[in-house]
Amino acid sequence: MICLSLTAGTLAENLRAAARFAPVIDMVELRADFLLREQRTDLHRFPSALPAARDGNRLPAILTVRAGRDGGQWREGEGERRHLLLHGVRGGGYAWVDLEGWLRGSDAGLLEAAAAAGTTVIRSMHDFEGVPDDLAKHLDGAARPQEIPKAAVMPGGSADLLRFARALQGLAPRRRVVVAMGAVGFATRVLARRFGSMFTFCSPNDIDARVAAPGHVDPETMAGLYRYHSIDADTAVFGVIGNPVMHSQSPVYHNRRFAEDQLNAVYLPFAVDDVDAFFELADLIPVDGFSVTIPHKQAVMGHLVQSDASVLGAGACNTVVRRGGGDADGGWIGYNSDVEGFLTPLLDAASQAGWPDLRGRRATVIGAGGAARAVVYALLRRGVNVLLLNRTLDRAEALVRDLAGTDSGASGAVTCAVLEASAADVMRRYADVIVQTTSVGMVPDSEAEPIPFYRFSGHEIVYDIVYTPPVTRLLRRAADAGCTTIGGARMFAAQADAQYRLFSRLQLADRSPRQ
Ligand code: ATR
Repeated sequence: MICLSLTAGTLAENLRAAARFAPVIDMVELRADFLLREQRTDLHRFPSALPAARDGNRLPAILTVRAGRDGGQWREGEGERRHLLLHGVRGGGYAWVDLEGWLRGSDAGLLEAAAAAGTTVIRSMHDFEGVPDDLAKHLDGAARPQEIPKAAVMPGGSADLLRFARALQGLAPRRRVVVAMGAVGFATRVLARRFGSMFTFCSPNDIDARVAAPGHVDPETMAGLYRYHSIDADTAVFGVIGNPVMHSQSPVYHNRRFAEDQLNAVYLPFAVDDVDAFFELADLIPVDGFSVTIPHKQAVMGHLVQSDASVLGAGACNTVVRRGGGDADGGWIGYNSDVEGFLTPLLDAASQAGWPDLRGRRATVIGAGGAARAVVYALLRRGVNVLLLNRTLDRAEALVRDLAGTDSGASGAVTCAVLEASAADVMRRYADVIVQTTSVGMVPDSEAEPIPFYRFSGHEIVYDIVYTPPVTRLLRRAADAGCTTIGGARMFAAQADAQYRLFSRLQLADRSPRQ
């Protein structure tokens, strides 16, 4: 169930938020600790004013008055807090009331009122510092049999999240609410049912809405992008690992494609600081495949049982899938979709230029970092002769040595030079294609240009892998001179498409589309 946490200062504002999200939520939590003082009197009437849910019944509500020590806004005395809880519960409309574990033993009056009103107690514990070693004890040990235990904890990193997942695995079946907060724990919100949680909490995304806890997304994102309501035991889980990763556009891309193809699969951002721990977690959840972004593109390579030639050539891995499909335990295979992602738009442009293929063409590559390596590898394999220009010559030469050490299947040749005005003459001899792989010209420094000294003839295909801005200064100048230009967004889309084909191939092979 998707539970909308309501954190506005007035009951009326909270009702408006509930009405707005009613089509996608299943219940609400009134966070009465956020209410203005004068609003408290009518708290007991709030549930009967709630709108209907999708099933036609009124949205059920949790009453929570979260104390400051549990991450809440309540700053007044404990006596006043209990008084407010009692006032709300006695109204008879709340389906649940949240009572913290530390209240147990001193909450007889509240329990009596809850029993009389038919309100179920959620027995909660919060840890904003980490994942307690005795999570299981905290969770189930604090709750009476008729109560619903709840734990919200803050994993400090991937190893904590792994401990959280393991602790839950060892528990006897029971209705529970569990969540790992923050970016690291985000998967536990989308996969709440997989982690044994009855509900997942969301916050409104209004401009001035206060997010009730770290890691909340809005209910439309949860229900629409992540298709929360259709995630079940058979849903294949994919994702992107990185650090940071929450800004990644990949979840939008892959979830849309899964939805279009009606595949029972979901794609999540995993904020990962420890690749080893993530691989263990990936077996527990289980995860069927994932994209890899900065800074883990090399670290994952040690976990692969098989590497595609693109990984060895590019010296980095950005796509990992289970060998033999989702249910098989055949280890992990790595790919580098940047190689194909780079080539696809270039081959399109080449064919429009009337070239039969790239063989024998001459290209200049600017930059000798990680991205350049995948580009140079892709070009050499296609039989292109490459001039590699870099500010630091040593680094360009090291890239070439590294590539020569891998069985790259290269048929083109590569030569290096320093990126400076005197390179313009030699560039003219490597000018069928010019590829820009450095960060020069990227937002916020979008007025910069790596080859201001070079005058385009108009016959070059100019390819900038930077995609913010969509048209860099280099591309603008090239287009003005009559060149064919390719922006980085096309490479991003092509590499994402190549990844998607790897992910969906597993799905199409293993599972029938959802009816
Ligand atoms: P990536 O993985 O994105 O390629 P990287 O490995 O850090 O990133 O490589 C950055 C590339 O951009 C390098 O070729 C770097 O040149 P140096 O090897 O000389 O450092 C290049 N680069 C970065 N800033 C630059 C600048 N202001 N002018 C020229 N080249 C620059």
